[in-house]
Amino acid sequence: MTQYIFDNPLIMKRIAVFTSGGDSPGMNACLRAVVRTATYHGIEVYGIMRGFSGMIKGEFVKLDSASVSNTVQKGGTILKSARSQRFMTKEGRQEAFDQLVNHGIEGLVAIGGNGTFTGAMIFEEEFGIPTVGAPGTIDNDLYGTDYTIGYDTAVNTALECIDKIRDTADSHDRCFFIEVMGRDSGYIAVPCAIGGGAEIVMVPETQMSVEVAIETLQTGWKRHKTSFIVIVAEGDEEGNAHTVAAKVKAAIPELDTRVTVIGHIQRGGAPTAADRLLGSQIGIAAVEGLMNGMKNVMAGIVDRKLVYTPFTDTINKRKPLNQSFIRMVEILSV
Ligand code: F6P
Repeated sequence: MTQYIFDNPLIMKRIAVFTSGGDSPGMNACLRAVVRTATYHGIEVYGIMRGFSGMIKGEFVKLDSASVSNTVQKGGTILKSARSQRFMTKEGRQEAFDQLVNHGIEGLVAIGGNGTFTGAMIFEEEFGIPTVGAPGTIDNDLYGTDYTIGYDTAVNTALECIDKIRDTADSHDRCFFIEVMGRDSGYIAVPCAIGGGAEIVMVPETQMSVEVAIETLQTGWKRHKTSFIVIVAEGDEEGNAHTVAAKVKAAIPELDTRVTVIGHIQRGGAPTAADRLLGSQIGIAAVEGLMNGMKNVMAGIVDRKLVYTPFTDTINKRKPLNQSFIRMVEILSV
């Protein structure tokens, strides 16, 4: 198998950066930091459009410091993002490798989540292209960083929506089931429940049954509570917000229920200060990691310190949800 070997990674001359998987606010701040750090160190940078898909098709654009001006505050990703089926095949990865060789790329910065890192790791094993990852996902479900780029913005966006829903829930004495994103995790749901004053939070990390939710609502009802907020993470084992709401309505017909799915609103918008800072820190760390010969690692911040975690750990280890947060919801909704 062809391997891409560097005599000395410290003299890397040209790298490429791409964003992949679901976009997240702060990806542009990270990209900007990657481009400017590389420029600072005299390394050329190419941006690859549409992730692995653009890598296969040769969608490379030369970037310089000016290319990323006026982007730090923008949501989405100026490199665009995609999920590539073709990259999952050996032929697709061979095409991607050929494109990288043709463009003289010696290292990659991948901004994305676990799907992205899995692809990058297989790619490195087959072709030897070193990749350092930057955790870009609103889900915050990556082991090896306390927060992912985009998470803080997504939670704040969702909270803003919940505050608005609370107004109408209160006016009409209704019970709202609000679905937030998080395919496999309740990281978005939990702070939304605490900050949004919800009575109940349902997340994949706990086995809270609909029956328990029903009991909680009935207890509140008896205490003359007239409006309720139930936050449901989309990946909850009991189903999505529509499913949970239907089961509750069947058990408490007198409850006036409504469902709101916040959806992709959570993925857009200007990044918060926290996400701009995190994206910038990680972007710098990713390039300097590559320069120091790192590969198959994700740059992250744990306990305020920069750490590089092997992709195998970010992919296979689960970042535990702080269970005391679930208890907080229970206490605060009494
Ligand atoms: O991984 C980020 C995420 O926003 C998840 O929370 C959500 O389940 C998924 O992406 C939605 O993906 P898509 O944009 O492909 O519908």
